[in-house]
Amino acid sequence: MKENYTLDQWIEIGQEMMADRERRIKIAKTRKFDTIAVHGIYDLKQALEQNSGSIMEPTYLSTAEVYYNSAQMEAGLSYQMPTWCYSRIANPSNYFLEETTALLETYGSDLEASCVATSSGMSAIRTATDPFLVKDDSLPPMNFVASAKVYGGSFQQFSVRRYQEQGIEVRWVKNPTNLDEWISKIDGGTRFIYGEFPSNPSVDIFDISEVADLAHSHDIPLIVDSTCASPALTRPLVFGADIVIQSATKVIANSGTTIVGLLTAKKNITSKVGSDDMREDFATWAKLWPYRDNGPCLHPMGAILTLNDMRTLRMRMAQMSIAALKVSEWLENHPKINRVYYPGLESYHAHEMAKKYMKLADSDENMYGFMLSTDIKEANEGDSINARKFYDALQMIFRATDLGRVKTIATLTAISTHQQQGEEGRRLASIKPNAIRIAVGIEHVDDIIADLEQALDQV
Ligand SMILES: Cc1ncc(COP(=O)(O)O)c(C=O)c1O
Repeated sequence: MKENYTLDQWIEIGQEMMADRERRIKIAKTRKFDTIAVHGIYDLKQALEQNSGSIMEPTYLSTAEVYYNSAQMEAGLSYQMPTWCYSRIANPSNYFLEETTALLETYGSDLEASCVATSSGMSAIRTATDPFLVKDDSLPPMNFVASAKVYGGSFQQFSVRRYQEQGIEVRWVKNPTNLDEWISKIDGGTRFIYGEFPSNPSVDIFDISEVADLAHSHDIPLIVDSTCASPALTRPLVFGADIVIQSATKVIANSGTTIVGLLTAKKNITSKVGSDDMREDFATWAKLWPYRDNGPCLHPMGAILTLNDMRTLRMRMAQMSIAALKVSEWLENHPKINRVYYPGLESYHAHEMAKKYMKLADSDENMYGFMLSTDIKEANEGDSINARKFYDALQMIFRATDLGRVKTIATLTAISTHQQQGEEGRRLASIKPNAIRIAVGIEHVDDIIADLEQALDQV
């Protein structure tokens, strides 16, 4: 009778549960990317014994877990046995999303990692960076080094919330492909390095392995936001990064039904601050301690919606990448277009570097993602007259601040996603007033090009 089990018995059950989890992870690690995305670590045994035989993972729209007795409650809440206890800390639906993500982010390697799902990409960034920005009087004044070519929300989190409100210095790297610029910004007070791969909206990249080596030589971690590549194309942890962020809101949950963040960290990250427990298993530690206290949890419905879309990530990414390359090549040859920024183009400033890092999982084929940026020709530098004419003439493509959708979306970034960071911030991040970001969806590419063509005809 489980109602009579003692604390020690519950701890023993917990150890068996952990061993079972390890066994399922081991099996998953022998499988291909698509198989992991479809099954994760949810198997027949679990379906039959723990989920009424459901072929799909549990959707537990429930705030809390009930316990057999006080001994189980004590074992669970002191983290001596796995428990989901309360949905701000954990939930079985979130658990399956997290386990699948950790496997996909380390796919093709022996790396071990853990993941914590958050309420948004922004809260994943906050959860990833907070623990390194702690008081330590033995170190020089605190700062962190970040690429200036980041999503506008990340730019604001760093420059307004961190710097203006908290006085934590952010040192911007203007040209992330230039390793010397990263080197020049680091000193003894630097707590972490942060980059986006590829960046939104300028589609810039950096050498992940070299920047990771640089970070580690200073005893600090590299954090990479790889939302626009996703693990189907680029797995930063495998190239040496310590923590990877996904705004899973985008291409991972690309039906566009939910806002979700995923923070995945490899085991034994590098950091000169924090506890041994934190370094050993950062994502689990973050989940059990600061996340529990701060509350940036993901609703379980969001977890299930994300998990369902994630199953087809690789094939969607392939189709979107093929279409985005065609669109980029077509635009590049159009007389009304000034430039196209897309890592798959020969003209891209870091095409060789992109080849090294952007490859479809389980294929030797380089693929470069769904996102491109283009400048429309204007009569005068700094104008956006033609860009707006083109933008307002789009008939099928949606005008919105979104990306990674099944539907193609175009964004005039200077007045939307990167509006709040102001002219100076946009100059720092090289965002021009006439730049249009196009996030190619899964429609037929001929229809996407036809809409772009008729809109350019209006200019
Ligand atoms: C690269 C990147 N990171 C983070 C975010 C923030 O994610 P969320 O909107 O899920 O908070 C975005 C949103 O556009 C993004 O594009």
